[in-house]
Amino acid sequence: MSSAHHYKTVSASQIILKELMVPSYANFGGKVHGGVILSLMDKIAYTCAASHAKSYCVTASVDSVDFMNPVEVGELLTLFASVNYVGHSSMEVGIKVISEDFKQDIVKHTNTSYFTMVAVDEETRQPTAVPGLILETEQQIQRFVMGKLRRQLKRQHHREINQLRQELNQERLLAEVAGERCQLLVEPQAD
Ligand SMILES: CC(C)(COP(=O)(O)OP(=O)(O)OC[C@H]1O[C@@H](n2cnc3c(N)ncnc32)[C@H](O)[C@@H]1OP(=O)(O)O)[C@@H](O)C(=O)NCCC(=O)NCCS
Repeated sequence: MSSAHHYKTVSASQIILKELMVPSYANFGGKVHGGVILSLMDKIAYTCAASHAKSYCVTASVDSVDFMNPVEVGELLTLFASVNYVGHSSMEVGIKVISEDFKQDIVKHTNTSYFTMVAVDEETRQPTAVPGLILETEQQIQRFVMGKLRRQLKRQHHREINQLRQELNQERLLAEVAGERCQLLVEPQAD
């Protein structure tokens, strides 16, 4: 049966990844680099999406990532990933990251973010259909609907940004930089 016509449960591709934060992950301030955490998030997003799609996937977009708490060397990072929503070839993977300080028995929520992964046919390099989702719990239904709404909002946001870019003329550029912390060494030109 083609992927477009079959459905899989959310739990079939749910994944947990644990990684100890070793000293080589630290930045100059002694905390773990944000990039290390982003890289682990990308890795688990790929694994979760590829497991649902049973095909090669690419990262199409990453929602904003707000780090709520610093992660210290020596802590155990745990990432939880789950496919929230599927379109035709795209999947929204929700990722929650927590860090655990064993010595003090403290668990902190580091961040939650959403990756859009697209299944790609390895021969044609074109997006390819992914299975639908079987929603078994109220939480899964809520996540699915929120994923759908986030996708609509992102599309609307892209349209608005493009519209703004088209509307930028010299007068608007000058008005927008007025009062900002910048000095102009050239006359602004609209695209
Ligand atoms: C993602 C990619 C495959 C989409 O290809 P495309 O030719 O634009 O394909 P389409 O317009 O048919 O879109 C395919 C799907 O991707 C989604 N999509 C495309 N660009 C997107 C974006 N920026 N954000 C979220 N979803 C996106 C579309 O909504 C569509 O979803 P659907 O099939 O569920 O309706 C292509 O842009 C790509 O290969 N990008 C590079 C990805 C990559 O290399 N990532 C790693 C960076 S190091």
